[in-house]
Amino acid sequence: MNRIEFLKTCGFGCLGLIGTASLLESCAGAKYLNGTLTDSFLEIPFDAFEVTKKEKKKFRKYVIVQHDELKYPICVYRQSASEYWALLMKCTHQGTELQVFGDRLQCPGHGSEFTKTGEVIKGPADTALRTLHVLVEKRILKIDLT
Ligand code: FES
Repeated sequence: MNRIEFLKTCGFGCLGLIGTASLLESCAGAKYLNGTLTDSFLEIPFDAFEVTKKEKKKFRKYVIVQHDELKYPICVYRQSASEYWALLMKCTHQGTELQVFGDRLQCPGHGSEFTKTGEVIKGPADTALRTLHVLVEKRILKIDLT
C-alpha cells in the first residue's frame, strides 16, 4: 500500500468513526416522554430539558413528546429559557415519521431533511414541517395542538 492509498483508507475510516460517534451522541441525548393532554394542549414539565452533570445544570437541545392519542410524536427544541419550537414529526412528503439527529430531522422514507425550525433542507419534501406554538407557564410547557 502506498502513501496515498493509506491516507485514503484512513481518511474514510476516520469519517466513518466521526459519523458513528455523532449518531450515537444524538441517540444518547434524545429524551422521550409522555405528555399530559389537557383541553387542546399537550403539557410537559419544564425540567424535562434539565440535565445535572457533576452538580452543573445543563439543558438538552430537544425532547420528543408522545401521547397515545397522537399519531406522530412532537419534537420540542429549546432555543432559550423562554423560547421553544415544537415540530410535528410527520414528513410533509408522504407522512413518514421523522427521526431526530441533533439540529436536524430526517425522513427514513425518501431522505428529506428539515431544520430545527421546520424548514426543508433537502427534498423530495417541499413544504416546511407543521410547527406548534409553545407557551411557558409556571414551569410547564404547553404545546398548542390547535
Ligand atoms: S415520506 Fe419523507 S421524504 Fe418521502
